[in-house]
Amino acid sequence: MKPIEIRPNVWWVGINDRVTDLFEGLWPIREEGISYNSYLIKDEKTALIDLSKEMLSDDYLAQLAEVFDISTLDYVIINHMEPDHSGALTRLLELAPKAQILGMPKAIAMLADFYGLTENTERLKNGQELNLGANTLRFVYTPFVHWPETMMTYLVEQKVLFPCDGYGGYGTLDGAIYDDTCADLDWYEAESLRYFTNIVAAFSKSVLAAIDKFADTQIELVAPSHGLIWRKNPGRIVELYRRWSEYYNSPAEEGITALFGTMYRNTEHALSAALEGIASEGVPVTVYDVRKTNVSYILPDLWTRRGVLVAAPTYEGQMFPAMMDVLMMADRKRVKHKQAAYLGSYAWSGGAKAAFDELAAKMGWQVVNAFDFIGRPQTLGLDRARELGVQLARAVKSAGQRSDG
Ligand code: FEO
Repeated sequence: MKPIEIRPNVWWVGINDRVTDLFEGLWPIREEGISYNSYLIKDEKTALIDLSKEMLSDDYLAQLAEVFDISTLDYVIINHMEPDHSGALTRLLELAPKAQILGMPKAIAMLADFYGLTENTERLKNGQELNLGANTLRFVYTPFVHWPETMMTYLVEQKVLFPCDGYGGYGTLDGAIYDDTCADLDWYEAESLRYFTNIVAAFSKSVLAAIDKFADTQIELVAPSHGLIWRKNPGRIVELYRRWSEYYNSPAEEGITALFGTMYRNTEHALSAALEGIASEGVPVTVYDVRKTNVSYILPDLWTRRGVLVAAPTYEGQMFPAMMDVLMMADRKRVKHKQAAYLGSYAWSGGAKAAFDELAAKMGWQVVNAFDFIGRPQTLGLDRARELGVQLARAVKSAGQRSDG
């Protein structure tokens, strides 16, 4: 895509990444892609805010050359040192040797660690401003949105916020870069939630602190470094991020995420009975087969629904491996405040239930019922599973009433 002037003398010079299969080496974006949004401010002095991933440096530098003479660049603003935003820096500096690199002290230290860059850098203070001519940049330290060095940059006169990973989302920008011109805003919002749960959710407390730091600041444009630029309704993405972040410390929305894995369908039969129980209470439920669905696509429901049903057998005396992977990721991402239940089959010794109990206790989940059974779930087992579903659904509804009240 060509550069786009998003405000007078403020240019989007971003790059779409349709090549990477796994973002951070972990999260699938083969179908969705991602954008690395970079911004150029052309004034008496020129400044670039965030760059792109190294492997797309050629495209990125060609993009920059469309709008200005790179050799005249005065400042590079490092909101966040992670290489998806700083990877092009070494190549850029070959063309712009006079450019000064600005970032929070930890970002400057990381530049030395990651790129061996130690010269022509400036360590910023929280709240420090930089005058470019008609435009002023203000740098606000927002640690752990997403790494400890992260800051957000505010363009004072034009009321534009550059929050880097904050308010970002997966998904390439397919010819349109704004919330009011994209083809399918619902899709981008869903991909923003997936990105949030994959990348940022573990730092929810820091996101809320960052939102508070801008509570009294007028923001007319939210220009993150991944995904859409929010022009028509900049408050929308801020409120979504606020709501999602608050779930780190509250029971989230009514609904149940049913996670299941099965070897010979015995656990699946018990799951089906539990789903009947849930349905009889009218609580929404989504079923994920952990053998087939990457955890990246499970985390959005797991994070935003206050009920979890885990249905998985014992494997070699322990939790079914694919389920263990999902539960350990839930623990890593700090998925808390859940009403939870477990059921599963075993052949000669249990083990999965004990693993579930241990992890549920670690995550602070309220376990409303958990049982295992040997072999097939006989009639009695199916009745127990149905009752477990009813109990879980009722617990989810009543946890909502407590939080509403
Ligand atoms: Fe987009 Fe945390 O890097």
